Amino acid sequence: MPEAISIADFTLVNHASDEGLIHVINAIVSAATGLSKDIRNAGLEDHILGAQGLDNVQGEAQQKLDLVADNAFIAAFQNCGVVCGIASEENDDFVAFASQESQNGKYIVLFDPLDGSSNIDVNVSIGTIFAVYRRISPTGTMAVLEDMLQPGTQQVAAGYVLYGSSTMLVYSTGNGVNGFTLDTVLNKFFLSHPMMKMPEMGRYYAMNEGNINECEPALKDYIAYCQSHQNDFNSPYSGRYIGSLVADFHRNLIKGGIYIYPAVFAHPMGRLRLLYECNPLAFIAEQAGGLATTGRERILSVQPQQLHQRVPYFIGSKSMVQKAMSFLK
Ligand code: AHG
Ligand code: MN
Ligand code: MN
Repeated sequence: MPEAISIADFTLVNHASDEGLIHVINAIVSAATGLSKDIRNAGLEDHILGAQGLDNVQGEAQQKLDLVADNAFIAAFQNCGVVCGIASEENDDFVAFASQESQNGKYIVLFDPLDGSSNIDVNVSIGTIFAVYRRISPTGTMAVLEDMLQPGTQQVAAGYVLYGSSTMLVYSTGNGVNGFTLDTVLNKFFLSHPMMKMPEMGRYYAMNEGNINECEPALKDYIAYCQSHQNDFNSPYSGRYIGSLVADFHRNLIKGGIYIYPAVFAHPMGRLRLLYECNPLAFIAEQAGGLATTGRERILSVQPQQLHQRVPYFIGSKSMVQKAMSFLK
């Protein structure tokens, strides 16, 4: 049997011409490896289980593990020497790193430290989502807001870590999507899913159907189509909704399916955040042959106006997203 390819060997071969990017990926790998261990032990450790007692800028209750994850990734990026600033779901404003080494860094990273945090206490899959950009501001200065507000088309790398039945890192630098699984004995990620492709069509739909009467009526018609015998498979699709975007997306990436978080009454712009949830997964989806839109336009082309901006989100198998969009016209 050929020897398994470690993430370190993979990055050395595939990003040989961009040493800086290797440092960013190493930072993600190192923070995620530690966080994975914390998550596996969450039920046994009082200081990481449960609510923190504070809300974030978006009015959502922060879990202790949200902050453990946020701090771990910020520290990893701050120390990796090539990242000049970050923005994350858990921080009201972006963070520009002050050290001279960081100011010389050419990358910024936008991330959701823990996605699906309402699933932490109930032992259900959660994840970390990240997007890497080149800064616009000159190196040798502090990062500025403009560095953070770039359209998703400018991502140089994006991906996620899924803390599921195994821990996986899935990422792309624009040359396809590769998946790595954490070997918990060696504490290293190995290539397990080379060149992932999202099936063109699938039989799974994921939406919080509790919201079905809270969204535009045309979407109700699309969900009825999914549940009918008049769809492409002449039988109802299966509904699957984990409530962790990253886990719902990963299932659809492998099996084929669509994930929808539309504009709803409580969230007129949708619930999910463009910069650190929607864009990175849209980049992965497109790289794997799938599609991601607001229902009306390509996610990666949306010009961000604010750090925590939300957008309606339709992502998954290409022909399913196209079909859903055809109902909204
Ligand atoms: P986060 O835990 O980072 O705040 O994200 C939660 C998101 C996403 O993961 C999930 O798909 C969605 O919120 C679930 O929302 P509903 O509970 O409204 O379905
Ligand atoms: Mn999230
Ligand atoms: Mn989160």
